Amino acid sequence: MQLIIHKNYEEISRWTANYIADKINAFKPTESKPFVLGLPTGSSPIGTYKALIELNKSGKVSFKHVVTFNMDEYVGLPKDHSESYYTFMHTNFFDHIDIDQKNINIPDGNAADLEKECAEYEEKIKQAGGIDLFLGGMGADGHIAFNIPGSSLSSRTRLVNLNYDTILANSRFFENDVNKVPKHALTVGVQTVLDAREVVIVVNGYKKARALQNVVEGGVTHMWTLSALQMHPQSVIVCDEEATMEL
Ligand code: GLP
Repeated sequence: MQLIIHKNYEEISRWTANYIADKINAFKPTESKPFVLGLPTGSSPIGTYKALIELNKSGKVSFKHVVTFNMDEYVGLPKDHSESYYTFMHTNFFDHIDIDQKNINIPDGNAADLEKECAEYEEKIKQAGGIDLFLGGMGADGHIAFNIPGSSLSSRTRLVNLNYDTILANSRFFENDVNKVPKHALTVGVQTVLDAREVVIVVNGYKKARALQNVVEGGVTHMWTLSALQMHPQSVIVCDEEATMEL
């Protein structure tokens, strides 16, 4: 696992967007094997999305042959709800790039059979040839996607109960009312992320400093699920100086 430190959020966003664009450009897609990109929601990747949109608009990268798989989605929130991850991704990224809508995959948190939805999601990733690059963020408790502390490091896409810390952290998007935050989500597992050929995680701000210290300097543990990245041979954490305060 590599740790790359930049001065501030703007710099990590620009670096990450350029890194992803270079990987897409270096890839030779075929009908049966497009470039497969795993994507997160949250505030951390917004700068990267903005920079990728700019690169796309200026013709420096195209998403025409890119297939995406999002990490997670709330259960029971209507697709068109302003805080669904479906809406987040379209508003912050997909609506502004040249991606083919049929190449976008987001777990359906309203599927009639959620277990089936999760199994099919894993299968779809496999059918697409596996994920080439998984971009991610990190929760303040060191979680990746919605793999909250205690999640198995060999977990796969599944239905999870969100813990109070995560509900509280996400209540800022739901009028600061914890009661409005969905209590369940579908998420890819830690193993689903580890299976990607490459993983890039963006981390910024002093609020993430303690988690970053545990994830980078602590042992591999299911209590800080991103620490599993230490076992991945091709993984990068891109962080700003504030996030490194405890290292
Ligand atoms: C949620 C998401 C994660 C994200 C985390 C941190 O839990 N499921 O994918 O990494 O929030 O979000 P933020 O980047 O806003 O701090």
